Amino acid sequence: MNSAATLLQQRRARGIEFTQEQFAALLAPGTPDAVVAALLTTLAMSGHSDSEAAALTQAYVASGRQVTWPDATQVVDKHSTGCVGDDVSIVLAPLLAANGLRVAKITGSALRHCGGTLDKLRCIPGLRLDLTVAEFVGCVETVGFCVAGQSPELVPADGRTYALRERTGTVDVAALIAASIMSKKLATGAATIALEVKYGPGALVATEADADELVRLMRAIGESAGRRMLMSTCDASQPLAPAAGPLLELREAVAVLRGGGSLVLREHVTGLAEQILHAVPAPDSAKPARTRVDDALNSGGAYEMFCHYVDHLGGNVEWLDNSLETTRASTVVTSYALRAAVYMGIDARPVGEAAQTLAALDATCGVRILAEPGQPVSAGQPVLEIHAPDLVSGHAHADVLGRHCHFHD
Ligand code: URA
Repeated sequence: MNSAATLLQQRRARGIEFTQEQFAALLAPGTPDAVVAALLTTLAMSGHSDSEAAALTQAYVASGRQVTWPDATQVVDKHSTGCVGDDVSIVLAPLLAANGLRVAKITGSALRHCGGTLDKLRCIPGLRLDLTVAEFVGCVETVGFCVAGQSPELVPADGRTYALRERTGTVDVAALIAASIMSKKLATGAATIALEVKYGPGALVATEADADELVRLMRAIGESAGRRMLMSTCDASQPLAPAAGPLLELREAVAVLRGGGSLVLREHVTGLAEQILHAVPAPDSAKPARTRVDDALNSGGAYEMFCHYVDHLGGNVEWLDNSLETTRASTVVTSYALRAAVYMGIDARPVGEAAQTLAALDATCGVRILAEPGQPVSAGQPVLEIHAPDLVSGHAHADVLGRHCHFHD
């Protein structure tokens, strides 16, 4: 095998396509980060074919172990390309499990301005997310679902390239998004995979056309591996849930699991759950999917399922029950409406950027949106809260975000 550096030079000079084996050599644990970074930038600059994206996906999958199920037909998985306030997975996985499906999901942390499920789950004291295959399978079989991070046994190549993509400015390259997502989905062995591609300023994917292209690419990778793909796209110019920042978003997700919370987030999750429950009917599915989803949320069944998962993986359920609501950043700065008007919304991207900047210091920090788009606000009514480590950064972010709130007289 040629050295990694030679392979990269050959690709640049002759435009050859990399095979799965060549990608595997470039991503081998002994390859220096600088070479992996050069691979990422090469793919960003020179483009890639569908078959090269599929080969990269397979190399990521082969970097760890693959999960197999005695009967994969009732095993489902779900992923989103991400957007500001995307708390869907934390609600959807236990909700589907409460409805008799098994959910096996590997997830990731924040990329650019989009929060990551892993960072939100990491706020739960004691919760172990770095699992072996045996622990992952054991959790799905005992609890009904598992959401875990990449680990030395589960797509380690994705875990490694994740951070490097951020550092090399290659987060939004289509082949890198597709390989990152599809490797996690193929590795966990679910027969049915639901994928949401979010687009717009609050997402990683810029335009609807880019989203359609990514749908096509990921569907092709999934279907050629024999998986059933349920694809959807969604505009993400507004935050999906009214909060950004790991702890604040965990709180939003848990509120919906407990039958309350944001109606927008609940409706979004319900739509996806219905789609999946129609595609993969659970054994005792006499009632309409919508009724079963509502029942699981309103009865506390979905929250109970989530607590079972937290407990199984060593997390502190007592903290979840009693301290999630009261755990706070040291400073909260509130921003108020200056006049009576109709609140029309806030640009998602600066909200995500502020939340990521604040949360890099402390996971309890972030942004809460208190007004509802389309609803009137009176002069002096609270519109935003900035949860910050100190007053100076709280006021600085409040000033910036105030300029991104839209009102109609
Ligand atoms: N989610 C992932 O797991 N990877 C990406 O590249 C984007 C979203």
